[in-house]
Amino acid sequence: MATQAQVLSSFLEQFTTQPKLFFSPGRINLIGEHVDYNDGFVMPAAIDKGIWFAIAANGTGTANFLSTDLKEHYSVDIDKVEKSSSWKNYVLGVLHILSQENHPIKGFDCAFGGNLPVGAGLSSSAAVEGGLIFALNDIFNLGLDRVTMALLAQKAEHTYPGVKCGIMDMFASLNSRADHVTLLDCNTLEYQYFPLQLNNYSIVLINTKVSHSLASGEYNQRRKDCEQGLSLLKQQNGSYTSFRNVPSADLLPYKELLGEVVYKRCLFVTQEIERTQLAARYLQENNLQAFGKLMFECHEGLSKLYDVSCPESDFLVDQAKKHPSIIGARQMGGGFGGCTINLIEKEKTAATVETITAAYHQTFGVTAEVYEMATSNGTYEIVL
Ligand code: GLA
Repeated sequence: MATQAQVLSSFLEQFTTQPKLFFSPGRINLIGEHVDYNDGFVMPAAIDKGIWFAIAANGTGTANFLSTDLKEHYSVDIDKVEKSSSWKNYVLGVLHILSQENHPIKGFDCAFGGNLPVGAGLSSSAAVEGGLIFALNDIFNLGLDRVTMALLAQKAEHTYPGVKCGIMDMFASLNSRADHVTLLDCNTLEYQYFPLQLNNYSIVLINTKVSHSLASGEYNQRRKDCEQGLSLLKQQNGSYTSFRNVPSADLLPYKELLGEVVYKRCLFVTQEIERTQLAARYLQENNLQAFGKLMFECHEGLSKLYDVSCPESDFLVDQAKKHPSIIGARQMGGGFGGCTINLIEKEKTAATVETITAAYHQTFGVTAEVYEMATSNGTYEIVL
């Protein structure tokens, strides 16, 4: 974990150029999970944890990276970028995609690091990819808008890290507005900002500390299951052009055709798309109780139909259900661990969270981390 000051000082120790500084936030997602790659809606917001980039053109043909967190550096000839391993693929994927799509850059020095826990479902990888594109766009005057940058960051993730993610994380990191959530239509990329009015509730994340790895293949497998399901459904009914047009209530007769696993995936996706639209309405009506119920339902689906939960996340959500002060909770992000997102009565937050984390420790022998979140604007420059 690095602070803004540490990123900057590590740059100044390592390089002789004069840097600019940028902040690229992580994100939460209130509801709409695993539907960004299925033409659904999502409701993310950028948070005040993220990755800082200190960066400067260096007048050469070499990109020099310093990971402030890991104290590792790596240099690469801009014209000879190849797939590598670990964190390097996130930055190299960006260089690769910029070159492929004809956005020419030159050599630069870059130190980066931050306070986003990796594998916690807070989009650390999107914050790295989106943040680097944003910074390069600035120092090399590429003239890219934020939506284009998000699309490029998504492609970067698809190529070198190899996770066939949707657009939500990059979009949220680059386009969010503080104190608002974004309702993003992942089909058209149209979006609206809603004020995040939580009355006497707060959003609290509880980190299971089970670090997921989307690259493990399970994420890509879910995507394949959904593609297979939709293609079979289309053959049955021409109006099922996208999951958006498949009412969840229509699915049962196709259970045998789809097979048990693909049926469950399709049922989750169609329900989650419907749920997110309803949730957006409840949020606008300030009906947080009803919104919270949908969060619990979402978790049920993630766990039983989409099979992306784990005993630790299920435990935290089950505990949440036992406390009347928590009106909604679910696992957040890609799944297989990471954080749960909880809507908790402000005044009772400390006591409730203490009881839950104590029970968690007793059951799993692990101390869960707790984050009370503040929202943030999308990626921005910090003028030095
Ligand atoms: C990860 C992916 C996103 C999205 C979520 C699940 O965070 O990067 O595109 O699919 O999982 O909602």
